[in-house]
Amino acid sequence: MTIIPTDTPEPGTNLESDVIELSDRLRAAPAPAQPPRVLAIANQKGGVGKTTTAINLGTALAAIGETVLILDLDPQGNASTGLGIDRKSRTYSTYDVLTTQASLRDAILPTAVPRLHIAPSTMDLSGLELEIGQQRDRAFRLRAALAALNAGAVEAHYSYVLVDCPPSLNLLTVNAMAAANAILVPLQCEFFALEGLSQLLKTVDQVKQSLNPELTIHGVVLTMYDARNNLSGQVVADVREFMGDKVYDTVIPRNVRVSEAPSHGKPVLIYDLKCVGSEAYLRLATELIQRERELKKAS
Ligand SMILES: Nc1ncnc2c1ncn2[C@@H]1O[C@H](COP(=O)(O)OP(=O)(O)O)[C@@H](O)[C@H]1O
Ligand SMILES: [Mg+2]
Repeated sequence: MTIIPTDTPEPGTNLESDVIELSDRLRAAPAPAQPPRVLAIANQKGGVGKTTTAINLGTALAAIGETVLILDLDPQGNASTGLGIDRKSRTYSTYDVLTTQASLRDAILPTAVPRLHIAPSTMDLSGLELEIGQQRDRAFRLRAALAALNAGAVEAHYSYVLVDCPPSLNLLTVNAMAAANAILVPLQCEFFALEGLSQLLKTVDQVKQSLNPELTIHGVVLTMYDARNNLSGQVVADVREFMGDKVYDTVIPRNVRVSEAPSHGKPVLIYDLKCVGSEAYLRLATELIQRERELKKAS
């Protein structure tokens, strides 16, 4: 963007007001962009609501004015499909980005939701570990790609990046954790909810010690809560006892509209804004932003 006035009068005629105008324009020029907050949505268990949370929390954040990028790091590509991105349009994917064959900017596609973009994935991603597993920078590929994106044009800047991780603690998840400010852990309200959580927390600790000292747990979100099932209530109590105030107040209910929406290629907030699932994801977005404010105040 140019900051030089285009309607400059004849040289030497109005120098003083020109200087004032120029300094006003300088003040109005956008500040250098803040780096986005990068949240890795991780749990090595499959089917706990990672992808559903990435899509719908991303949509809810965009709905309340944030600019959001979802990074699909699961070879299954469910976040991409659930946002209506068909395979043909995935010219560049997160696989190309992590193998440095494309920049993140090349891979990003808009979605039907204003302010929500996605870098889609393809099945190739499942071979990544074999391909780059011996490279010294293998764990930092995503962090480097995000840094390059943020150094680029202002139009490509986001306030939140949500990384949809695969159901495994593999190199893809490690890349997400090495690039993230914080981890968001979806836990399904089922009997074995806490099983595997200590392994996940151990991995977070290891990444913190070796790759990313700033990494924190942003929060744990309980998903697929069923009020008619006594077990759900017990799981909520157990998880709150184990994880304390890391657990978000918002609990995502089991809701058939949430599970129907991806087959229409839509977030549930677009598919049925009024359903309890949409309401819950909007509340979660508000709570997340509130938590972010508290974190900023504390730092
Ligand atoms: N709140 C919910 N209510 C009903 N079904 C849900 C809900 N959250 C997720 N699901 C369904 O559960 C399945 C697993 O969710 P998904 O987000 O794909 O998990 P993950 O990414 O952890 O493997 C999907 O079929 C999804 O539609
Ligand atoms: Mg998934």
